[in-house]
Amino acid sequence: MTSPLRRPLLVGNWKMNLTMVQSIELGKLVAGGAGAASGEVAVCVPFTAIAVVREVLRGTNVRLGAQNCHWEVSGAYTGEISVDQLRDAGCQMVIIGHSERRKLFGETDESVNRKLGAALKGGLTPIVCVGETLEEREAQKTWRVLETQIEGGLKGFAPADLSKVVIAYEPVWAIGTGKTASPAQAQEAHLFIRSQLKKIHGESFSAGTRILYGGSVTAENVDSLMDSADVDGALVGGASLKKDFLRIMGFQTAR
Ligand code: PGA
Repeated sequence: MTSPLRRPLLVGNWKMNLTMVQSIELGKLVAGGAGAASGEVAVCVPFTAIAVVREVLRGTNVRLGAQNCHWEVSGAYTGEISVDQLRDAGCQMVIIGHSERRKLFGETDESVNRKLGAALKGGLTPIVCVGETLEEREAQKTWRVLETQIEGGLKGFAPADLSKVVIAYEPVWAIGTGKTASPAQAQEAHLFIRSQLKKIHGESFSAGTRILYGGSVTAENVDSLMDSADVDGALVGGASLKKDFLRIMGFQTAR
């Protein structure tokens, strides 16, 4: 983490886990550790936990987010939830295009693009996820995949509209597998993504945009990942459900 333009961001993605009582407990743990954090902290919780975790985080600087949204404001979209509803419930952020949603629920760069538009319009900080599968990496397609996802996801917006956007590089082969990208692999991909951001919207946009790494981040590997110049934070799944997240929030770099 080098640029003072980019404040580190540590995000917990709780996925489809925890009851309300458990969410309150974990929210309290995170809130209690926020003072010792090395950057900005957020938790993206299940829809059912938003209201209760909001109360736990009130008055702290931990930000609250959701894991998905729909692109329409309201209407006949059974089972979906809008950006306005998330904001109303207390969210400030939303994860868009997580690989689990792409793989299991048919999300595409086009739906990511529409959801991004809705999040920006509705005032939520979007965390747009990109990343290649193992097959794509082995077939030397990583850069092409990232280029397509970035281009397709971000197309049609002016740089000023995208000033709040956060990108998360999450190689699919590293998610929930215990197989983390090495700091060198993460840095290489982050640098590539930053070059794509520069290609789309120029130097100052690319230099100011935070790119998080996600995929089996742990208390043990966070420091070395955060040592990389273009890694501006972490999107954490499994380890965000445990006390380990406090250590991740308090990452230390050699810089
Ligand atoms: P993981 O998940 O940390 O459990 O690999 C990361 C993510 O899916 O955001």
